[in-house]
Amino acid sequence: MRTIDSLGPLRSRTVIVRCDLNVPLADGVITDDGRIRASLTTIRELREAGAKIVLISHLGRPKGEPEARFSLKPVAERMSELLDAPVGFVGETVGADASAAVDALGDGDVLLLENLRFNAGETSKDDAEREAFARELAQLGDAFVSDGFGVVHRRQASVYDLAQLLPSAAGRLVAAELDVLQRLTESPERPYTVVLGGSKVSDKLGVISHLIERVDTLLIGGGMLFTFLAAQGYQVASSLLEEDQLDTVRGYLKTAEDRGVRIVLPTDVVVAEAFAADAAHEVVAADAIESSSFGAQGIGLDIGPESARAFAEVIAGSRTVFWNGPMGVFEMEAFANGTRVVAKALTETEGFTVVGGGDSAAAVRALGFSDDQFGHISTGGGASLEFLEGKQLPGLEVLA
Ligand code: 3PG
Repeated sequence: MRTIDSLGPLRSRTVIVRCDLNVPLADGVITDDGRIRASLTTIRELREAGAKIVLISHLGRPKGEPEARFSLKPVAERMSELLDAPVGFVGETVGADASAAVDALGDGDVLLLENLRFNAGETSKDDAEREAFARELAQLGDAFVSDGFGVVHRRQASVYDLAQLLPSAAGRLVAAELDVLQRLTESPERPYTVVLGGSKVSDKLGVISHLIERVDTLLIGGGMLFTFLAAQGYQVASSLLEEDQLDTVRGYLKTAEDRGVRIVLPTDVVVAEAFAADAAHEVVAADAIESSSFGAQGIGLDIGPESARAFAEVIAGSRTVFWNGPMGVFEMEAFANGTRVVAKALTETEGFTVVGGGDSAAAVRALGFSDDQFGHISTGGGASLEFLEGKQLPGLEVLA
């Protein structure tokens, strides 16, 4: 993998840096600035080298045209505070204004362009359309640094095509993320435990079938646990259930048994009367969900306390832990316990811990944990899962 060093002296050269500044926003206010902070190492280094820095990123999923709520303007303001230096902003990605702002940069200056996905070419499936947009971007700089780890699994203009049009290299964040993920795939210290949560099994099929061959223990929480319970013949009342995944999940349970891999499912769950922060709720055994006071209406929204303790014990005895996906609806205090207990267990184990993903990272911060309590917090959810699945990621392939 080519790194920044391969680009030679950068003084007075214009370097385009693809970051993943896709941060969560509520009413225009950034609720978790982890991805901005994670981008600073490369930007600081390029400033010290005297480069003129043009940052590009997406935010959200606009459909190829401007949408005010997806503007990167608040990100430029936050980055300027964190960098303790001005970060210019221009309200378009390519065009006369963007070119003029780039031309006005001095050595060490930083400029953020508007959301890449306001341009249809960025995410187009048509190679020619994507390449045409990448060519417009390439005209803005002399070199390209790919540092948006969260997006390296996307074959998009600013990730894949642009890297082929300019001298290009991986930034420090991409290199650091890769080091960690290689440690997980090549030589994890054992016991190796993976904790998976999140709502749908169907989002995690690839990674589960790949990991079943490689880990010692798989802990299953989040909405997808109900499809696992149903696969074992339990009733799950009105909890999230993916009927079409039942056979696949039975297959996982069988493979795990044959290979001596432990899949640990919750033995108790928190069942609520409705999906609401103030809904009545109670803890029931995992094989008796329909016998809660809410009968067939009951919705499982978190793993129960006994399960959380059991998960924490497995984590405490592990030498490597990778975690992706919350254990319950952690945004609602009544259903945050499972996620909190698992996060705490990760902070206390002596093993190497990796929290994978934008959502999981935001969850641990929202629950009051800090980044330095974990071995590594990845900035890429989809990207880290696809890497662990053994897939080739276009944004990394192109930097090989
Ligand atoms: C993410 O949030 O996982 C990355 O920013 C990628 O975003 P995307 O899934 O919209 O491509």
